[in-house]
Amino acid sequence: MYLCEMDPNFTRWMEETFALAQAARGTTLPNPAVGCIVLDRTGKPLAKASTSPGGRPHAERAALEKAGARARGGYLFATLEPCVAFPGKKSPPCAAAIILSGVETVVVGSRDPNPLVGGKGIHAMRKAGIKVVELSLEDRIPDFYAGFGHFLTTHRPRVTLKAALSADHMATAKSGTRTAITGQEAKRFTHELRAASDLVLVGGATARIDDPQLTVRDAPGRSPRRAVLWPRTGLSASLKLFQGPSCMAIGCGPRPADLPASAQWLEVPGDGDHASIAGLLDQLGEQGFHDVLVETGPRLAKAFLDSKLWDRFCLIRSPTTLGGGVAFELPGLPETAQRQSALGLDTASLFLRPEMLP
Ligand SMILES: NC(=O)c1ccc[n+]([C@@H]2O[C@H](COP(=O)([O-])OP(=O)(O)OC[C@H]3O[C@@H](n4cnc5c(N)ncnc54)[C@H](OP(=O)(O)O)[C@@H]3O)[C@@H](O)[C@H]2O)c1
Repeated sequence: MYLCEMDPNFTRWMEETFALAQAARGTTLPNPAVGCIVLDRTGKPLAKASTSPGGRPHAERAALEKAGARARGGYLFATLEPCVAFPGKKSPPCAAAIILSGVETVVVGSRDPNPLVGGKGIHAMRKAGIKVVELSLEDRIPDFYAGFGHFLTTHRPRVTLKAALSADHMATAKSGTRTAITGQEAKRFTHELRAASDLVLVGGATARIDDPQLTVRDAPGRSPRRAVLWPRTGLSASLKLFQGPSCMAIGCGPRPADLPASAQWLEVPGDGDHASIAGLLDQLGEQGFHDVLVETGPRLAKAFLDSKLWDRFCLIRSPTTLGGGVAFELPGLPETAQRQSALGLDTASLFLRPEMLP
């Protein structure tokens, strides 16, 4: 079976390659997670690989190694443009390995957002006579790497805030309690947002009152790292966040004595009571995170909005009126959403920080 560019198999193989990258998200930091599949000249799969834990070896190298000489004349699918050499680069360039392998067609999901590499891998392969096809799956693959691009240019992660609001803008019906505001489809959507993040963060009050697990259960994909902004009152070791894989607690002083031993402590600059948002993002960038989801209550939402250090805000609005409670104040949120979608009876709206609007 010979594959031509218009063949629906191209899309099917790229979907499969993308699934490999998605499954590796968060395990390869600070490198991006990449998927790669190599087919022989008849379109038969020879090797599948993703970026190894810790970021090396790259997916293309691992797949080509498995495929061996049978890759000659075949196809290579990669979610991210294969890399080229640049000053300070630690791993050998993948574009050169692909050229040596004799692969005839390379299908790329996204150009590399790294300005030192973007376009150069594709150019080098075309110059060597390889046919290069770009297949972005309706921009889903470039979007997967947008947090990496943001990290490369700002040294901070891309921040997505997420909150659910009643029709009268409430976060909860009564202070100090949790109110379920949105429905099952919104829950699934939230789990998809988690699976598309490297780290999910909540404020201490939310951890105490809602006791969330912050894992991915109702959507495909892996669970991200979990983190909590430490509150002045401390938190109970019995919270769900402190069960299972290690949670990161973040605050602006030394490690609290009551923090469970299994949890990691990240000290960030602050005013003595609260972490500064800028300091927090610098430290998360230092840790190599590309995409952070903040499942926020009203106070943390205001702190992020006031700092202007957020990138996307996903608001899920319910048609239900609570008639009182604690309201979200959302200073500086643009009036118009970039995108809207129905989630059962609820509506999800995606807002971009005004400076990021096209
Ligand atoms: N509708 C929704 O989408 C949604 C989502 C999450 C939570 N909730 C609800 O919202 C309520 C909790 O929200 P909240 O606004 O009180 O709390 P929050 O979102 O959990 O954020 C504030 C908490 O984070 C701590 N914190 C640490 N650093 C901070 C910083 N730089 N800026 C702000 N806070 C910082 C605060 O510590 P201190 O305590 O020391 O001040 C406080 O415990 C609960 O009722 C929960 O059920 C609703």
